[in-house]
Amino acid sequence: MEYTLHPPSPQHFATLGDWISDAEQCLRWAGPKLAFPFDPAVLQSLLETEPMDSYALLDQHASLAGFGQIFRREPGTGHLGRIIIDPRRRQQGIGQILCSELIRAGVQRQGFRAMTLWVYLDNAPAVQLYSALGFVAEAREGAAGCQFMRLQMAA
Ligand SMILES: CC(C)(COP(=O)(O)OP(=O)(O)OC[C@H]1O[C@@H](n2cnc3c(N)ncnc32)[C@H](O)[C@@H]1OP(=O)(O)O)[C@@H](O)C(=O)NCCC(=O)NCCS
Repeated sequence: MEYTLHPPSPQHFATLGDWISDAEQCLRWAGPKLAFPFDPAVLQSLLETEPMDSYALLDQHASLAGFGQIFRREPGTGHLGRIIIDPRRRQQGIGQILCSELIRAGVQRQGFRAMTLWVYLDNAPAVQLYSALGFVAEAREGAAGCQFMRLQMAA
């Protein structure tokens, strides 16, 4: 299966809403700023509140396999957020593909030389995914149970 990044459509945001079924999942996915339950019809406006780009990961049948955002918070550094894979397609390596494609897009389109993210330390799949991609824990004051991580690209 081939996967590519695209600008998300309103239908994609509606599908994302179907993937989040409780407050704990919502917190782990989107952080404390997105209250659960949310109205899927306005999810895009709830997620796009600061300078960033949203991306839908589509398979070759144009079906939504994943979603993620790259925030522009520091010069030269992209910040990954709201990373999620279709619950029916997890543990098949698609999270790795999504993050690798997002990193590539950030480097090619924005010229980022580093990527950062926050992850809840009890979110084992996410911690494993980011570590496997080369993200390294970095000390930074944040919400309880959250770890800041950085991927530094070679000069
Ligand atoms: C985190 C998430 C994106 C991972 O997506 P995925 O497609 O299942 O991940 P992959 O199949 O690419 O696996 C990536 C790595 O994580 C590991 N992994 C995946 N699921 C795992 C699980 N349930 N427990 C432990 N490790 C797991 C894989 O073994 C792989 O590690 P490896 O490269 O060392 O073998 C997915 O679980 C998800 O959408 N979670 C809900 C939203 C969320 O929590 N997002 C993170 C916000 S910070």
